[in-house]
Parts: sequence; structure tokens; C-alpha cells
Amino acid sequence: MVESLVTPAQNDFSAAERSAVYRALRERRDVRAGYLPQPIDDATLYRLLAAAHHAPSVGFMQPWRFIVVRDEGLRRAVHGIFERANSDALARYQGERRQLYSRLKLEGLLEAPQHLCVLCDEESERGHSLGRNTMPETSIYSVVCAIQNLWLAARTEGIGVGWVSILDPRAIKNLLRIPAGTQLVAYLCIGYVRAFSDVPDLERNGWEQRAELTPLVRADYFDQPYAAHHDMR
Ligand SMILES: Cc1cc2nc3c(=O)[nH]c(=O)nc-3n(C[C@H](O)[C@H](O)[C@H](O)COP(=O)(O)O)c2cc1C
Repeated sequence: MVESLVTPAQNDFSAAERSAVYRALRERRDVRAGYLPQPIDDATLYRLLAAAHHAPSVGFMQPWRFIVVRDEGLRRAVHGIFERANSDALARYQGERRQLYSRLKLEGLLEAPQHLCVLCDEESERGHSLGRNTMPETSIYSVVCAIQNLWLAARTEGIGVGWVSILDPRAIKNLLRIPAGTQLVAYLCIGYVRAFSDVPDLERNGWEQRAELTPLVRADYFDQPYAAHHDMR
């Protein structure tokens, strides 16, 4: 058996490689506008899907399944499903927040030339239930890890990803013929974009701001703050 244990002293990531990873983390954005019409070619798409496929997964289950949606009729139908869910969501807000919500652009479903529907096969026997006896939801967490991998890889390829959760999952399952036992985890717009914003859209539009990190970190007990010796941002 080949051992490949790397100690910090042998770190084989150069400073440039390390900063590229942190840059991708910082500059990844949720993109809902500015998609270009040119579709993603299969070689690039497969690089992104392979990045997702290398995510950690409970018991090495790899429960992710992907549907690449390019058909225009389907993309329009998904947009219709979004519009219905979005008007229900709008009705839950009052006053100024409602005004603000109505001005937000929360999807790029018609502009993006392809969508990616990301699913979790909860009935897969891969992984032999390891790690899921006490926390069955970890199969879904694994799929979310895969989505994050894809999202970061996409950023480095100049490809925007926008997660659209304002959708009735049953309607999406019917439309895309997704079987029972396979759960919708994410519906993503994906495509080349003109630009990436340096701040989240919701921050730029006054909906929410990035939280301070320090109060979110505790030491030993939940009710004990972590006394940071560092300015944590
Ligand atoms: C689980 C999940 C669901 C989301 N659903 C939506 C959505 O329906 N519409 C939307 O505009 N953004 C959605 N987002 C994106 C968030 O609004 C975005 O991540 C957040 O505002 C921070 O911005 P950033 O991703 O550009 O850093 C979602 C993100 C996650 C992780």
C-alpha cells in the first residue's frame, strides 16, 4: 500500500496555488443575471461535474445525480414554476421589505443556456449505510458538498452558477420525470457570464449583509465566546 501522508512542512501547494484556492472561495458568487448565450461545451461541463464527483460523501456513497437541462421548452416550464413560487413568497412580506423583495432578481432561468438539476438518490445502497444510521440526512449533505465543489470550479472557468430554491420541488420532479426516492437538492442556472460581482447581490440590493465571523465561533461550550487573537473576517 502506498502511503501519502503530507506534513505541513511538506505542503505541496505553492503560495500561488494556495492563494488561487482562497481567491475562488472569496470571489465565488451566486449569479442571476448577465449570462451569455454560448452553451458550455461537454469537455468543460464534464470538468465541473468531475469536480462535484470528487466531493466527500457519507460512507463514500456518492449519492449525487445530475440532469443537464438544455431544452428550451423545459427551461421555460421551470421558469413558470419559479414565477408561481415567487409570487407566493412575495405575498409573505409586508411594507418596505415587500417592495424590496419585488425588485430582487432571484433567478437567471431564461438567460442561462443550460440548467443543472442536482438530486440525491436516497435509495442507493452504495456506502452500506455507513454514517447514516444516526444521521440519514448526511446523504443530502454529501450532495451539497458536491454542489459547492462545482460552484467553485465554475468560478475558475468564468462560469456563473445561480442556485434557485424558489420552486415547488414536486412540480420539478414531475416535469423532469424524477423517480420517488430521489430528492431534489438544487436547481442551478449555469453558464458563461459577463462579469462576477465583487459583493453578493443581496448585499448590493440592501437585503442582507455579511455577518461578522467572530460571534459565530465559540470556545469549548456554545455559550462561551472564542477569544480570537486574530481579526477573523
Ligand atoms: C441553499 C441555497 C439556496 C439559494 N437559493 C437562492 C434563490 O432561490 N435565489 C437566489 O437569488 N439566490 C439563492 N441562493 C444564493 C444566495 O442568495 C447567495 O448565496 C447569498 O446571497 C450570498 O451571495 P454569494 O453566493 O454571491 O456569495 C441560494 C443559496 C443557497 C446556498
